[in-house]
Amino acid sequence: MHGNGPNGGAFRDPAFMENREAPIHRWVPWIAGYSKYFVEDAITNYTSGPSIVLDPFAGVGTTLVEADLAGHDAIGFEINPYAAFAARTKLQAYRIDQDSLLRTADRFINFMQRGARRGDGPLTQPPAAFRTRTPFYSPKVERKVLLALDFIVDCPPLIADIYRLAFAATMVQYSNYSYEPSLGRKVTVGRPEVDDCDVAETIRSKVLQIADDAAWYRSARRKREHQRGQILNRSFFDGYSEIEAGSVDLLITSPPYLNNYHYNRNTRPHLYWLGFCSSPREMKHLEELNFGTYWQNARDQEHVDLDPCIEDATIRETLSTLRKKNPDKGLYGGNGWANYAARYFNDCVRFAQGAASCLRSGATALVVIGNSILQGVPIPTDRFLAKIAESHGFDIVAIHVPRNTRIGNSILDSSVRAGKANGNALYESVVELRRS
Ligand SMILES: C[S@@+](CC[C@H](N)C(=O)[O-])C[C@H]1O[C@@H](n2cnc3c(N)ncnc32)[C@H](O)[C@@H]1O
Repeated sequence: MHGNGPNGGAFRDPAFMENREAPIHRWVPWIAGYSKYFVEDAITNYTSGPSIVLDPFAGVGTTLVEADLAGHDAIGFEINPYAAFAARTKLQAYRIDQDSLLRTADRFINFMQRGARRGDGPLTQPPAAFRTRTPFYSPKVERKVLLALDFIVDCPPLIADIYRLAFAATMVQYSNYSYEPSLGRKVTVGRPEVDDCDVAETIRSKVLQIADDAAWYRSARRKREHQRGQILNRSFFDGYSEIEAGSVDLLITSPPYLNNYHYNRNTRPHLYWLGFCSSPREMKHLEELNFGTYWQNARDQEHVDLDPCIEDATIRETLSTLRKKNPDKGLYGGNGWANYAARYFNDCVRFAQGAASCLRSGATALVVIGNSILQGVPIPTDRFLAKIAESHGFDIVAIHVPRNTRIGNSILDSSVRAGKANGNALYESVVELRRS
């Protein structure tokens, strides 16, 4: 199924890459985000007049920022405290005074220079429970990072958040790790470790970028009285009942894909260093809240059943084909992946139920989602999600495919994939649903 928006406008490519250049969106890198241009099109095509826009899986807030800029009320849910923090800080951009932020940048550099000359160590300590195979920072870099965190402690709240965000956005750059696209040691991809780096200047440049973008935001924002932009750091599945039933005019989202991309492991440095997480137990809890959880948490279960309300024969047959693949591979065989897929589609049910509760009749939901190939079995996640939504109060309007290749799929890159994709390509779709 292919189609266009109501005004004849097809969607622009939802890939995040373009956000790297766009004001506000460029503040933090986020591998699994989507493009602000896609969201912009969606908001233009599917709203008329002030609206409530919902993103149940908000990430670093692409939807929320675009909705806020266009003068709508925006509400998002996000379980990852670091992503939620980034989204919340972006939504505060209109409150940032460029001149006073610029003044702090000079104070910051002075503070860092004085700290470098002093003999005594920084007051801030590295996060005790954050363990890595190779030291995350060299001793020289770590000292500078800790000094920067000392500076932040004494800043007023909004300025502190901006510096914390500037640190978080750059922290991997001067570490011994990098994203390829999952977080791994630089040496394993042939890159040198970082012995030293001008941490103060790197953070300062980011703060200056934030100051520029905040000034732009204040002028570009189509402000309405009593306008509200908010992000809740909690699971949509537990939280949607707090949204007034039938009040949302437009839902734009991209849930985690069925590709086991590990949001929590990939943001471990941010979660620990910013103090959002202080133990592996807390990390585990986040994993359990994640849409579909992760293959690692499902693979050793005997048999995860599909929710009985998923009656579609194709979904059931696809999962039972997958389940029978490669029994000789034990935990790494088809059964483990079928368990993970069953949890994923069961969470599609929870998503559809939540979305159906929040949306007013006739409202649109646009869900960006990628397909999967597990153990050589193609899984058209877009069609399956659409089928599930259809039995929970939605009409399927169209499945748009803005582009047909995808990179960075952690399963295709890893040795756990069994068998070739049989010519099946990875693609991304926009599933367009209408609340009946
Ligand atoms: C594909 S990303 C969304 C990226 C977003 N569109 C952006 O541009 O930043 C999916 C997000 O869903 C979040 N997530 C996973 N399970 C969730 C749940 N149960 N409730 C709320 N958020 C969840 C993940 O932490 C991740 O940030």
